[in-house]
Amino acid sequence: MTIWHINGGNTLHGSVAVQGAKNAVLPIMAASVLAPCETELRNVPELRDVNTTLRILRHLGCTAERGGDAVYIDSRGMSRNDIPHSLMRELRSSVIFLGAILARCGEARLSMPGGCELGPRPVDLHLEALRALGADVRERGGDIVCRAEGALTGTRIVLPFPSVGATENVMLAACAAEGETVVCNAAREPEIVDLQRYLQNLGAAITGAGTATITVGGFRPRRAVEHRILSDRIAAATLLCACAATGGEMELTDAHPAHFLTVLDSLSEAGCDIMTTSSSVRLRSTGRLIAPKPVVTRPYPGFPTDAQPPLMAACLKARGTTVFTENIFTNRYRHAEEFRRLGANVSIEGRVAYISGVEKLTGAPLTASDLRAGAAMLVAALSAEGHTELLDDDYICRGYDGFDRRLAALGADIRCETQAKGGPV
Ligand code: UD1
Repeated sequence: MTIWHINGGNTLHGSVAVQGAKNAVLPIMAASVLAPCETELRNVPELRDVNTTLRILRHLGCTAERGGDAVYIDSRGMSRNDIPHSLMRELRSSVIFLGAILARCGEARLSMPGGCELGPRPVDLHLEALRALGADVRERGGDIVCRAEGALTGTRIVLPFPSVGATENVMLAACAAEGETVVCNAAREPEIVDLQRYLQNLGAAITGAGTATITVGGFRPRRAVEHRILSDRIAAATLLCACAATGGEMELTDAHPAHFLTVLDSLSEAGCDIMTTSSSVRLRSTGRLIAPKPVVTRPYPGFPTDAQPPLMAACLKARGTTVFTENIFTNRYRHAEEFRRLGANVSIEGRVAYISGVEKLTGAPLTASDLRAGAAMLVAALSAEGHTELLDDDYICRGYDGFDRRLAALGADIRCETQAKGGPV
């Protein structure tokens, strides 16, 4: 358990580097078992989910170590094809090991993955795509057993929805397939492009990531790969929302503004001054925002669902009414309940949330319900008057590397203390 203490009201000023992307590093770490090889990853954020993935790799018999911002994985000694429930339940992206282990071993045994509770998060699209490649997929209780009798066979797969995880799983499994695989209606997120870059370095003939059609046509594994993890667009968006809400001037370096243009558009409509280069963003805010145009979450390049909670936090005091429509996850407004404790005026009707801007927010005790909701509560607390204590069941450290340190360096009055479960603070 982590307890965050925030004294709101400080404006944010200064320059901060954006961390490596959680949603890029996790599937790439899973991909490192595709073939016996050594992988060195750079710009790896220090996150709980990365540590859990290192434990999964060690369980599989790989060497997996961290040193500074690098992670080193040697998958030559991989000796198992199963992942126990105790590790699977820690994070959703553990399911990406399914395609990777199937490709490497011809059989994978996993239990259903965990992750943030954002509504039902089935893996039917992942399993259907693997079946299309010829895998025999069985679900028993909470377990998934996936077997390739003989070789997997490349084919044309049309995803009914551009699921990020299903796209990644099929990219990995298709590396082991005979013949060509074409994935239609693939997810187009920048993290998919980063995975493709890693796979190309590993020796896969894969093209098309970033468009709706990805083609995988063979794999000649190399023995060693080096890869630098892409910058985290959601962490960047969260920091910008914090500065927009409190007022101040912030520069983000090692950022790729092209990856979060929709968020920049909303912040600009809200009255922030924004300047970008290809690798940096500068945002200036008076802290007195106006409601931006309606925000509708969609698969990339639409507005990212993961940036919806922090942007909502930034709009709580914006003049007028901001309307959010959440199209990706059904249970993604739990932060709104907590915002009301700060004095926010939020009403929710199904997928739509209406935020009527209030003059001021007042610090209050809050509880984080998931990763992005927790980060959004920090954003709201920074722009509230007085003290907020946020109880966080270690959600925020799943996705944000040194968030307290980065925000404090920008002038925020924020500190966090870690408490052993059940122990004293
Ligand atoms: C990934 C991201 C997560 C982000 C999400 C949407 C990682 C590690 N996580 O999650 O941060 O919020 O993309 O951008 O990259 N669905 C099904 N059946 C499936 C798979 C998905 O119905 O088999 C549904 C989900 O329940 C959800 C929607 O499709 O409603 C989007 O899911 P998906 O794109 O697969 O997200 P994740 O890969 O889980």
